[in-house]
Amino acid sequence: MDDLIFRLRAVRFSYLNKYPALCGIDMDIAGGQKIAILGANGSGKSTLLQLLDGLIFPDAGSVEIFGRFLDEAALNDADFSGRFRSRVGLVFQNPDIQLFCSTVKEDILFGPLQLGLDRVKMKKRVDEVIASLGIGDLLERSPHQLSVGEKRKVSIATVLAIDPDILLLDEPTAGLDPQTSRHIMDIIIEANEKGKTVVTATHDLHIVEEIADLAYILSREKKIARSGPVEELLKDEELLRSNNLMHIHKHRHKDAVHIHPHQHLEHHI
Ligand SMILES: Nc1ncnc2c1ncn2[C@@H]1O[C@H](COP(=O)(O)OP(=O)(O)OP(=O)(O)O)[C@@H](O)[C@H]1O
Ligand SMILES: [Mg+2]
Repeated sequence: MDDLIFRLRAVRFSYLNKYPALCGIDMDIAGGQKIAILGANGSGKSTLLQLLDGLIFPDAGSVEIFGRFLDEAALNDADFSGRFRSRVGLVFQNPDIQLFCSTVKEDILFGPLQLGLDRVKMKKRVDEVIASLGIGDLLERSPHQLSVGEKRKVSIATVLAIDPDILLLDEPTAGLDPQTSRHIMDIIIEANEKGKTVVTATHDLHIVEEIADLAYILSREKKIARSGPVEELLKDEELLRSNNLMHIHKHRHKDAVHIHPHQHLEHHI
């Protein structure tokens, strides 16, 4: 594949050697792709993103990035690690893990300062990110005192501030109001149009068509149930239902109860 960034082969990972989280994952991610990782709760989406971000390493199988194994030895190499950290950014599912400074401003500046990015460019970039996310009024606040949605926006800002080529986003729209959610989707789309590779984990089928061209569905067995173009996968009701991405809705209308399958594609009234 041209411009291959990530290459995963037979990747297995368990927490504490006893809680399996990924059970044999093969995946190729090329530069500029827009990918969704779909799957029910506990199917391994967050674990997969953490592997791609070099925070954890496979028990078996391999993760390669730019043709080099992404393992502890690679990340102990300061040169590689610096390049890797400036090119790959992960927005955690839980903002409380991402945000650890005493003010929002310090959190946003932390990554660029750590990576020693050019001061003038950094200031311009950070100002743009703050304006784009509309978080200028939060800068002096403690991240831990923010609302869930505000925390998520700040988390996203900390990663965008680094301006990585590869964005890994774990449920980036969870807990956001519709307008903010739309804005985050636009940021994802725009980043991809500028050539960035974007990998988003979500179980919100609502957003998938816009934020991804290709999707991987993780099964309850923590394997890839199917991968392919998003529009193809979203048409396959049986695939979605069997992977807990579509639920059966019960509607009560006076005496009658109607039951029908429901995808998270439209808002339900
Ligand atoms: N720190 C941990 N210790 C032990 N087991 C864990 C830990 N984190 C995750 N797991 C387990 O690993 C599996 C995959 O979890 P993961 O968080 O990757 O799923 P997910 O698809 O991101 O779920 P969600 O949609 O709820 O965010 C689950 O069975 C989970 O219980
Ligand atoms: Mg998760």
